[in-house]
Amino acid sequence: MEPQRIDAPLTRSATFLVLSVTDKPDAIKTIRSTLASISGLSKNVAFRDLGASFACTVGIGDDVWDRVTGLPRPAELHPFPVVKGATHTAVSTPGDLLFHIRSERRDLCFEFERQLMDLLGDAVSVVDETVGFRYFDVRDLLGFVDGTANPVGPVVHDSVLVAAEDSTSAGGSYVVVQKYVHDLKSWRTLPAEKQEAIIGRTKLENIELSDASSGQQSHKSLATIEDENGVEHDILRDNMPFGSPASGEFGTYFIGYSRRLWVIEKMLERMFIGEPPGLHDRILNFSTPLTGTTFFAPSASLLRSLDSN
Ligand code: HEM
Repeated sequence: MEPQRIDAPLTRSATFLVLSVTDKPDAIKTIRSTLASISGLSKNVAFRDLGASFACTVGIGDDVWDRVTGLPRPAELHPFPVVKGATHTAVSTPGDLLFHIRSERRDLCFEFERQLMDLLGDAVSVVDETVGFRYFDVRDLLGFVDGTANPVGPVVHDSVLVAAEDSTSAGGSYVVVQKYVHDLKSWRTLPAEKQEAIIGRTKLENIELSDASSGQQSHKSLATIEDENGVEHDILRDNMPFGSPASGEFGTYFIGYSRRLWVIEKMLERMFIGEPPGLHDRILNFSTPLTGTTFFAPSASLLRSLDSN
């Protein structure tokens, strides 16, 4: 099973495109043939600048999985659950297809999306399109370096790709996206030390702070997940800043890939409900999710087969 390019590097530019399938008579047929040809389409665009690290990952949502693939369902695939804490809520929003398009060059992302939308035509309607950019040394708009704790090297596949535990979905990955907007005005009123305690790392040098021994925990601690055997489970995040100072929009597009959907859901519970419950992640006092959607990014081999089965 050849996986999609889930472990492609973080780039200067990315487009996050979430689409819904329409009820046009040929919609499913069009989507299957487009997804089957996605690696060819990617090659066409990537080849125009081989140094620009172009990659596109496709995710398919729970609601259309059966119709689009006609194949067994990934064991954990289900819609994004609403996570309601005492103060903040992770909303669940629609979306049948996700295209995570990345490149060092914004024009390559644009060109790929243009050709893709031409192929999909009226088979889809756009739910959300977010264009992200690299901000200095991979910082989010809160000013912190974002992505440091990602797995690297040989352990990446172990963290993100489904394997023998669900053999018909092997080589695929669960993907969760949330589009957050920040209240930067309030965030900026906090002294750097307060911000650092919220994130769990120093701002300038990105040095990890120790976990709190009790009480309020940092974002970093709340997002660290251990199973009942004490084994830590990493996810792969490719978050990007987005926004427009002129319209007062400042955001982080969260995207997490995982071999185990429960790991990301556990992170969300710890962030929104809190651990202990009531002590939610204070990043949420300054960041509101506008969307929340779950997909499964199947193997590239599965996508290629969609024209024939
Ligand atoms: C760590 C920012 C949402 C999961 C971090 C770090 C930053 C950050 C700055 C520390 C550096 C790093 O290791 O990357 C943000 C922002 C978010 C956001 C600005 C949105 C407003 C989320 C969500 C999840 C998540 C929704 C999961 C559902 C993680 C994980 C880590 C992390 C797993 C690494 C923890 C570790 O050190 O092992 N995040 N994050 N983040 N975040 Fe987030």
